[in-house]
Amino acid sequence: MSAGEPPALRIARPADVSRLVALEAALFGVDAWSADLVAEELTGPGRTVVVAAPPAGGPGTPSAGPVVGYAVLGVAGDVADLLRIGVAPEARRTGVATALLAAVLDVARQAGAERLLLEVAAGNAGAVAFYAHAGFAEIHRRPRYYRDGSDALVLQREL
Ligand SMILES: CC(C)(COP(=O)(O)OP(=O)(O)OC[C@H]1O[C@@H](n2cnc3c(N)ncnc32)[C@H](O)[C@@H]1OP(=O)(O)O)[C@@H](O)C(=O)NCCC(=O)NCCS
Repeated sequence: MSAGEPPALRIARPADVSRLVALEAALFGVDAWSADLVAEELTGPGRTVVVAAPPAGGPGTPSAGPVVGYAVLGVAGDVADLLRIGVAPEARRTGVATALLAAVLDVARQAGAERLLLEVAAGNAGAVAFYAHAGFAEIHRRPRYYRDGSDALVLQREL
């Protein structure tokens, strides 16, 4: 995908599970979700999974390339949680996560949520920079939250 070309977004379908599991393993390692967990997210109450795939390349080409990014939202009452957001390394810094976030923000607002929360490892510099750029503010820090002893930041954005 080239910079400036908007990613095509859609709601995930069961056929996406294997690609999402591969992205989970590549992006989240030991914390990756299993196929069962990913499949549950597709249909779970209050859950929305949005995927990004490169747009069609023209006549004779498939309608869309492989999924390069995804976001998982959970909404419960006035609070929404961004449970996952991930973009394949080769598709980063082209606005994919920004587009995915905008899509889940819309869903959260329409569901009546007033704020979006998420957790991120304090040492995940790329994600921390992305969330700062996207208008999230730190509201809490959980010391030694992760298995490797690193802190978790709880970030919030008003909707
Ligand atoms: C964090 C992540 C989702 C960002 O995805 P992305 O599609 O590259 O993000 P965008 O292209 O929409 O970035 C928008 C802006 O955020 C900031 N940003 C994004 N990634 C950044 C990075 N690695 N370093 C510094 N700033 C960054 C920049 O301001 C960027 O704008 P610019 O490219 O014009 O400078 C992606 O790096 C990723 O999947 N990381 C691994 C999984 C992960 O850690 N997920 C979050 C778990 S809580």
